[in-house]
Amino acid sequence: RPVPVIAIDGPTASGKGSIATAVAEALGFVCLDSGVLYRLTAWEALQQGVPLDDSDALTRLAADLPVTFAAGGIVLNGHVFDAAQLRTEAVGQAASTIAAIPSVREALFALQRSFRRAPGLVADGRDMGTVVFPDAPLKVFLTASAHSRAERRYKQLISQGIPAILADVFAELELRDARDTQRDVAALKPAPDAQLLDSTDLSLEQTVEAVLALWRQSV
Ligand code: C5P
Repeated sequence: RPVPVIAIDGPTASGKGSIATAVAEALGFVCLDSGVLYRLTAWEALQQGVPLDDSDALTRLAADLPVTFAAGGIVLNGHVFDAAQLRTEAVGQAASTIAAIPSVREALFALQRSFRRAPGLVADGRDMGTVVFPDAPLKVFLTASAHSRAERRYKQLISQGIPAILADVFAELELRDARDTQRDVAALKPAPDAQLLDSTDLSLEQTVEAVLALWRQSV
């Protein structure tokens, strides 16, 4: 039997990352935050001064990303990489810009699929259930209102000591939502067989429990 995958897709700041991590931990599964791969590619492009519309150069970057994932940590160009550097708004916007290029997405397929290892994988992103792992036995499409997502992101930034303005966070979130849902390739949308889960009124723990309940029903 193929190694099972739980695909968790949804818009920015829907809590996918925290939920995927907690679900993977509860089940002893491997976890893939696919957004990190787009962010790493964007990071490298910004570092090397590759223009964000140079598809060929960006595709080469994505295909040869000098990255390994060791014990939960990221090693880039031979050095342990501080993943917090990928969480900035600038890297996020750059990631969503390059993620609209089909050949960049294709260049990252094999790397994403290499995370599928026994006993199972929890993968979060935008197209885990629709494109990368279409045979996943459980697909969850996680949503929350734009206001509650903006509020969560805002609180996260403030708690990290990063100055932020709620209205700006909201505007940036809407910009990224629009870009991710309107692009021609792998647009953010639920797979036909995805379970919709709205976490607007749920705590992190309740949302994790809801995903685990769906998993128990599916096996
Ligand atoms: O999830 P995260 O915010 O880290 O992703 C950053 C950007 O990478 C997203 O805005 C999206 O454009 C892109 N992305 C994607 N497909 C994925 C994961 C992320 O296009 N599977």
